[in-house]
Amino acid sequence: MGMSNSDNQTGSCNPLHELPLLYQFSNTLLSTIRLNKLTHLILTMLTIEENHLFERAFLFLLNEKTGLLQGALGVSRNVDDTLITIADPENPLVNRWDISEETIIRQSGAELSRKTRICKIDLKINCPVLKKVMKQGRLFNSGDHPAINPATSLNFSKDINIGEFVAAPLVSRNGTIGMIVVDNPFSAENIGNDKLRLLRLVAAQSGMAIEHSILYKKLAEAHSDLQDAKERLIHGERLAAIGEMATSLAHELKNPLVAIGGFAGRLFRALPPGSVEKGYAETIVNETCRLEKMLADILAFARKPSICYSYCQVSEVLRECIEISRNALEEQAIQISEPECDRTWYVLGDAHQLKQVFLNLFLNAAESMPNGGTIKIRLEIRNDKLFIRIKDTGGGIPDELMPKIFHPFFTTKEQGTGLGLPIVRRIILNHKGTIEADNEDGGAIFTITLPLVKHDHQTNDY
Ligand SMILES: Nc1ncnc2c1ncn2[C@@H]1O[C@H](COP(=O)(O)OP(=O)(O)OP(=O)(O)O)[C@@H](O)[C@H]1O
Ligand SMILES: [Mg+2]
Repeated sequence: MGMSNSDNQTGSCNPLHELPLLYQFSNTLLSTIRLNKLTHLILTMLTIEENHLFERAFLFLLNEKTGLLQGALGVSRNVDDTLITIADPENPLVNRWDISEETIIRQSGAELSRKTRICKIDLKINCPVLKKVMKQGRLFNSGDHPAINPATSLNFSKDINIGEFVAAPLVSRNGTIGMIVVDNPFSAENIGNDKLRLLRLVAAQSGMAIEHSILYKKLAEAHSDLQDAKERLIHGERLAAIGEMATSLAHELKNPLVAIGGFAGRLFRALPPGSVEKGYAETIVNETCRLEKMLADILAFARKPSICYSYCQVSEVLRECIEISRNALEEQAIQISEPECDRTWYVLGDAHQLKQVFLNLFLNAAESMPNGGTIKIRLEIRNDKLFIRIKDTGGGIPDELMPKIFHPFFTTKEQGTGLGLPIVRRIILNHKGTIEADNEDGGAIFTITLPLVKHDHQTNDY
């Protein structure tokens, strides 16, 4: 369905000859909402042999966030790149092209595409060509400007070796969203007026089609985010219900458990040393202790936290936690070193709760190193935030468990409640901080960030 060769070479324009081609372009642009496929279709329609339009075509899109004009795709005329024509003999006006996934993959992986993607053009640079195309939304034909050097005028990578070219803006409702650049480096053939007009029309339609496709992509992402939020909400509600049940159960269990523990303790002390019964009583005492700790954790988790803020010097809080844990850690052949901190930095927080955070993390680290190891702590300041990194050598957290470790009641330990990390996370979030887990050098690493505050006073705090 392309234009005949003679039509193109005359340079004259015959709108009636162009019409079927334009329809076919138009129908093709409407045939997909997938941005990637659309970009390949556009550039291939402009370069395939049968259309006799251009030998190479490049697509650049404006990155809203960085303000840079980013190379997206480059296609060079290639015998292997064919389009599939979908034709209706009864009604030629519905003809369109399609492109195979293999062609898309081949074009994306080709050297020219790679070189194009490397191009990131800063629109703030003083470039008359880009100003005309991007700011004024007008087509630029380098053939009309003999004073301009095509090779350097677009700030393309030198590898692309651009010759005489035409750059057409991709105009959407919200301004120019990118540009298409075409050239004929193999034949060095001039780009005639008929092809210019066609390019202008195709670029205008492509701009709209690409904008729709980007909007659709954003909509799909927003929809998926909303779906995630809905699932999190349902999950949260379910957790809240479980939490409520667990709390009332914990309350019910607490008193009898204290009684059992108390009597078992008395029994233990009264029984003669070395007797089998003393052994039984000891087991009851230990197990009730464990259950009491578990109940205390559940109640602590269920309780609404009240924070008592003061200016805390985190390095001091950490130092105290290390002191508290040192004996137990040394018994387990675990080395822990105090963090180096050359300045006094403060966060606004509840020192008692922050202690709970660090002790929980030390305990988890210790539990992952039953045969000894090291716990390293690093403090670092970046962007008004304090980064606290606690790293162990206990083998790390398996990838498949990583998403679950902060879930309440998730544990891999026989004696664990699975509330340590959820409590830690909640305290950190209440302090407007973040916590992340990762694996590094054969161990787990927990990174906490806390917002820093300026503090001049030296009273009533750490
Ligand atoms: N430093 C670590 N190294 C390896 N795995 C870890 C580490 N910290 C946490 N985990 C994994 O995360 C799980 C959840 O930890 P969390 O502290 O919430 O619960 P727990 O330690 O199992 O029980 P609890 O803290 O209530 O006694 C652990 O069971 C363990 O599988
Ligand atoms: Mg724990």
